[in-house]
Amino acid sequence: MQFKKVGVASDHAGQELRQMILDYLRSSGRETIDFGVDVRYDTAVDYPDYAALLAEAVLSGEINGAIAICGTGLGMAITGNKFRGIRACCIWDEYSSRMSRQHNNSNMLCLGSRTLNPYRAIDLVGIWLETSFSGERHQLRLDKIQEIEKRNFQPQ
Ligand code: RB5
Repeated sequence: MQFKKVGVASDHAGQELRQMILDYLRSSGRETIDFGVDVRYDTAVDYPDYAALLAEAVLSGEINGAIAICGTGLGMAITGNKFRGIRACCIWDEYSSRMSRQHNNSNMLCLGSRTLNPYRAIDLVGIWLETSFSGERHQLRLDKIQEIEKRNFQPQ
């Protein structure tokens, strides 16, 4: 199982979908860590705080895959990609979910709770979890991303 321990986090907009995804992951026998947030329906939090928790957990090895949910998934992806070694992909259908693993070796899946039907979102999570990185020419492209990170990011 490539993603044995999966961390899940959301902002206020993604709370319900996060709970559904956690239930799905647990019922499929995966270890999970819930990074929150749990707030009242009228309380807003800032998505970068939750994307950062996930990114740091991936980089420390506490989890080996991350699922981040906000209204669109976009803010989570923007934040996740500020961390060296994180490949955060915002996906919207079966193809983008599969490609984010096969070609991009995504380690942070970003989903929009306001843009996706929740049952579809669960299917897309399943595809992401089960799809392997293809390597070969795609690894060469990831190596180039790593070179860009080296030039632009301070060492962590
Ligand atoms: C919150 O209203 C919303 O901006 C957030 O969930 C997310 O969509 C940001 O990218």
